[in-house]
Amino acid sequence: MAEHLIIKGETKAELYATLLPQLQSLIEGESDIIANMANISACIMDTFHFWWVGFYRVIDENLVLGPFQGPLACTRIKRGKGVCGTAWDKAETIVVEDVEKFPGHIACSSASRSEIVVPVIRNGEVIAVLDIDSEHLNTFDSIDKEWLEKVAEIVLKSY
Ligand code: SME
Repeated sequence: MAEHLIIKGETKAELYATLLPQLQSLIEGESDIIANMANISACIMDTFHFWWVGFYRVIDENLVLGPFQGPLACTRIKRGKGVCGTAWDKAETIVVEDVEKFPGHIACSSASRSEIVVPVIRNGEVIAVLDIDSEHLNTFDSIDKEWLEKVAEIVLKSY
């Protein structure tokens, strides 16, 4: 495993296993989706120190920037565009090992090298995406996919 994927001696699966119940209890007492997305972004960032962690929400014909942690980002993404718009269109998680090799990748920041986008799906419809960017190549794999899909289910509970 690449060194930057082990933090404080713990594997990322161990870190996710600690993080998940924290997120669960965080949203239990709060029904506002923006408040919950904000705190979920903050907790993920605090654990992993990724380059960018945040949400886009489906509003009419666009993904619109929601709560995030990290540098400024583009505010609107059309369906099918970039990694986020593709995850929305396909209603599935997209893992990108090298953003330069993803046709149509939207470079909000030139520092971003790899990315994962996880859709939040309600009744078969994508209502938001969780987007995480890394400044390292090949940061995300099936472990992130598995755990971040659980995070998307937690987010869904407050919609
Ligand atoms: N790279 C994304 C755009 C969002 S930013 O990374 C925050 C994409 O290609 O959809």
